[in-house]
Amino acid sequence: MLNVAVLISGAGSNLRAFLEAAADADYPARVVAVGADRDAEGLQHAADFGIPSFSVPFRAFESREAWGEELAAQLRAWNPDLIVLSGLMRLLPERVVNEFAPRIVNTHPAYLPEFPGAHGVRDALAAGVTETGASVIVVDGGVDTGPIVAQERVPVEPGDTEATLHDRIKPVERRLLIDVVRRIATGELELGQ
Ligand code: GRF
Repeated sequence: MLNVAVLISGAGSNLRAFLEAAADADYPARVVAVGADRDAEGLQHAADFGIPSFSVPFRAFESREAWGEELAAQLRAWNPDLIVLSGLMRLLPERVVNEFAPRIVNTHPAYLPEFPGAHGVRDALAAGVTETGASVIVVDGGVDTGPIVAQERVPVEPGDTEATLHDRIKPVERRLLIDVVRRIATGELELGQ
């Protein structure tokens, strides 16, 4: 059974989908804790599933590094086999990445390396592309630059807004994430050491 810690910043709709998948007794991974860099509304999903959660508010710390130290301490306490960034809108300090890498994966609402960064959906729409995508990567020290372990194209429809396009991408992200974590848990996908 793979013990997974999930980090979020927002609504956590992708987290919820993952929690629902992990609730299946046949799924080879379970969420042991959910963390956030703010008082994220998505933490409620952890409560709904009876899973411990923690919040390490970025704004309460003197620096990104100090915030990272506390986040790493909270994560370490759960001894996760894998950390999933699911809508964490914060760059992890290099020291935190180095402590847990390569056992950190991130979902991104674009077809990386297209449209990295915090506004992948908005940037794809602004670029006028007819298709974008969803990706799951292994987190390294860069911004969405790590090895791609899964990705799939998602069409952009005429008249799409950022919200309608993001809503079309998220189900694909969820499916890719659930499958990637399953493959990590079964050893089919090796992240290395
Ligand atoms: C997801 O598309 C994630 O990839 C991006 O932000 C979104 C989070 O949505 N970084 P939610 O909080 O899971 O609803």
